[in-house]
Amino acid sequence: MGRTSSLFERYLDRTRRRIDRALDARLPSAREEPRPLHAAIRYSVFAGGKRLRPALCLLACESVMGRSAPAIPAAVALEMIHTFSLIHDDLPGMDDDDWRRGRPSNHVVFGEGMAILAGDALLALAFETLARAPQGKAGDPCALIRIVTEATGTGGMIGGQAMDLALEGKRKVPFRRVLSMHSRKTGMLIRGSLLLGAEIGGATQAIKRRFSDYGARVGLAFQIGDDLLNVRSSRKKIGKAVGSDKARGKATAPGAVGIERAEREAERLLQSARRIAPGLGKRAREFESFTEFLLGRTS
Ligand code: IPE
Ligand code: IPE
Ligand code: MG
Ligand code: MG
Repeated sequence: MGRTSSLFERYLDRTRRRIDRALDARLPSAREEPRPLHAAIRYSVFAGGKRLRPALCLLACESVMGRSAPAIPAAVALEMIHTFSLIHDDLPGMDDDDWRRGRPSNHVVFGEGMAILAGDALLALAFETLARAPQGKAGDPCALIRIVTEATGTGGMIGGQAMDLALEGKRKVPFRRVLSMHSRKTGMLIRGSLLLGAEIGGATQAIKRRFSDYGARVGLAFQIGDDLLNVRSSRKKIGKAVGSDKARGKATAPGAVGIERAEREAERLLQSARRIAPGLGKRAREFESFTEFLLGRTS
């Protein structure tokens, strides 16, 4: 018997098509020159990602202002940045993974050079999309750019990826260093997705602070969960390599403190996020449900 889907999963199902349509409209056609570049971009964007970050952005906007349409361009920009991070993450110079989103990684199909450029182009396209977007109730359009650069730059995803590389092969990495790396490489973009939606929805400072606290917790728990899946899931289920973290000497939560303590830490973070959720506006129940979704996730 199939498990009944949660409130959050139902939201994700309802919004996925809207996100994909908007992405399709914003990405250059594969028939447009340079064709290999555009084909490489589309190959990874439409490989079946979960679309969590755009969904969280839309949900935050809806929770604050009652509708999500003004946040669609921002949601698309977030998925572009996320896909860029995955394409580069798989490169031989980084994790050297040849399987992603249930198919061969971008560089395996298009070559390393084209994969680098596809990632670069997605980052540029993301900012173009943001710059052209209607800003909803965001008072200052630069506020949106600031949220995305903070989430993506050296204090965010890219900085976290650099820490990940620097810690590779190190024995006995303290747990707090792993958590600090995880907060940056994954937590910051998830938190930024919520902040972006809240900003477009016209949230007050107090509400934005709550989204920030909630986002930091679910974002960190998400990467601990990703580490756990790498230990105990299957390639068929998660669409990417398993066992690769250990083989590459990656600093991970289960590597630092063992599976059980890593699980407990993720649970603690998710419980703490759940306590913040009721203060997140009209969609509070979906945000509560998201913490449960993360607790039981298998892909
Ligand atoms: C994978 O993210 C990479 C991490 C930051 C942990 P997701 O699990 O959201 O990947 P997709 O988008 O569904 O492929
Ligand atoms: C994901 O880190 C972080 C980013 C891609 C920014 P991982 O390297 O652990 O993610 P997967 O497991 O390859 O998706
Ligand atoms: Mg990595
Ligand atoms: Mg990786």
